[in-house]
Formats: sequence, C-alpha cells, structure tokens
Amino acid sequence: MQHPVLAANWKMNHGPTEAREFMRRYLTLSPRRNDRTVMFFPSDLAFSAAAEACRDRSDLLLGVQNIHWEDKGAFTGESSAAMARDAGARVVLVGHSERRHVFGETDAMQAKKCAAATRAGLTPVLCVGELLPQREAGQAEAVVLEQLTLGLAELSTASVASMLIAYEPVWAIGTGKTATPADASAMHAVIRTHLRGLLGEKALAVPILYGGSVSKGTAASLLAAEHVDGLLVGGASLDAEGWSSIVAT
Ligand code: PGA
Repeated sequence: MQHPVLAANWKMNHGPTEAREFMRRYLTLSPRRNDRTVMFFPSDLAFSAAAEACRDRSDLLLGVQNIHWEDKGAFTGESSAAMARDAGARVVLVGHSERRHVFGETDAMQAKKCAAATRAGLTPVLCVGELLPQREAGQAEAVVLEQLTLGLAELSTASVASMLIAYEPVWAIGTGKTATPADASAMHAVIRTHLRGLLGEKALAVPILYGGSVSKGTAASLLAAEHVDGLLVGGASLDAEGWSSIVAT
C-alpha cells in the first residue's frame, strides 16, 4: 500500500500572517516523515507566505484551491494553472463541493480545469460527492460516477493514473457528520472499480481521499478503512496542533 496522503484545505481562512504563524508552529511540531504525503491548500493570497515559510521542507506539497481553465486572459478575479505552477503549486483542488454548490460550477468546467492543470504540470485532485437528498434517494453512487466520468473526460489515461480523487459527501462537509468508515470504504470501492475500468491495475496507485468533517477523533478509523488512501481536511486542519496530530495518525 502506498503512503497515506493528508491534505489540509484551508478554504477562505488564514491570510499571509496567519499562514506564516501556522507554518512556524507546524514545522516545530511535525518533523519530516517519509511514510506519508502532506499537502496544504492555502488561499491564493496566502500561498507565497506559506510556501516561503516551508521552503526548507521539500516533503510538504503546496497546492491551490481552484484554477481557471484558460491559460490567461480577461477573467477578472481568476488565476490560471500556469500561474499557480509558477508560484510553486504542485497540486490543485478541482470540483470542490463549495465550487460546485456555492459558485455553480458544472462537471464540464471540472473537466476543463483538470485538463488545464495537467497541461501546466499541476496534479489535479478531483473532488466528487453527493448531496444528502441524493443519498437518501439511493442515487449517491450514480451521482459520484457521473461526476467522475464527466470530470475525467478530457484527460489521457496517463494523466488519470497520476492524479488523485477525493470523495467528499456534501452532507458531511463542515457539518460535524462524518461518513462511517464503512460508508467511505463502500464509495471508495465504487470509485476504484470505475478507475480500474479506465486504467486496469494502475488504478490501485491512484490515491482516493475521504473528506467531510474529519477530526482528530475520526482520522485513524477512516484511514484504516479499505480503499481510503488519505484524508482531505477542512476545519480540523486550521490549527497547527490539531493538524499535526492528524498528520501523525
Ligand atoms: P471539513 O471540510 O473537514 O471542514 O468538513 C472538508 C473539505 O471541504 O475539504
């Protein structure tokens, strides 16, 4: 089994000053480890401060929370994949539920963003997940499979083989309701089977992260679940002590 991936999604929290202070504390609490991959997704405005603060820790990967699919142009307020790469990002979140449900982004946009990311040398983390009414109506698998099929539509199989997927049931994000390890494992197995159809045995090497109200208390049992290769954490990644203890899980 590959190394677990622990990814901190700071969302619209931590400006440059807080990002610097977070990193200063995190680096003293969490020494370099070769048996896990740790990622941070600061806001664009805090990205450089975070990157500078951990420049001596090549084991930590920095990413951005969103990109536009065009390389440049008249898109006020947006940043391109090439710009993110130039700033030092290695990974990018694509299709986070808040992008889909707060900002109305479609699956077709996620497909273009995944393609733009790989063109620029950024690794996409495609986020998928169903709403509560969809789960209650027994449509969760169908929703996730459609998001995967459409979101990956513009990628070569080689690109899919080197990216990451995050399963984040929307009803679990920021609500304090975590999927049980068994529920997470069941959906991850569905995602793995879909990837196997595209990639064959190489699908085993695509990390599938779980996200949605992960806490210090739930991280270990989720990580122990079959097909859960890592965690994408919002609220519980915001304080350096708490996040260090999740990374140490
Ligand atoms: P949460 O967010 O851990 O605060 O639920 C997870 C995410 O949205 O990535």
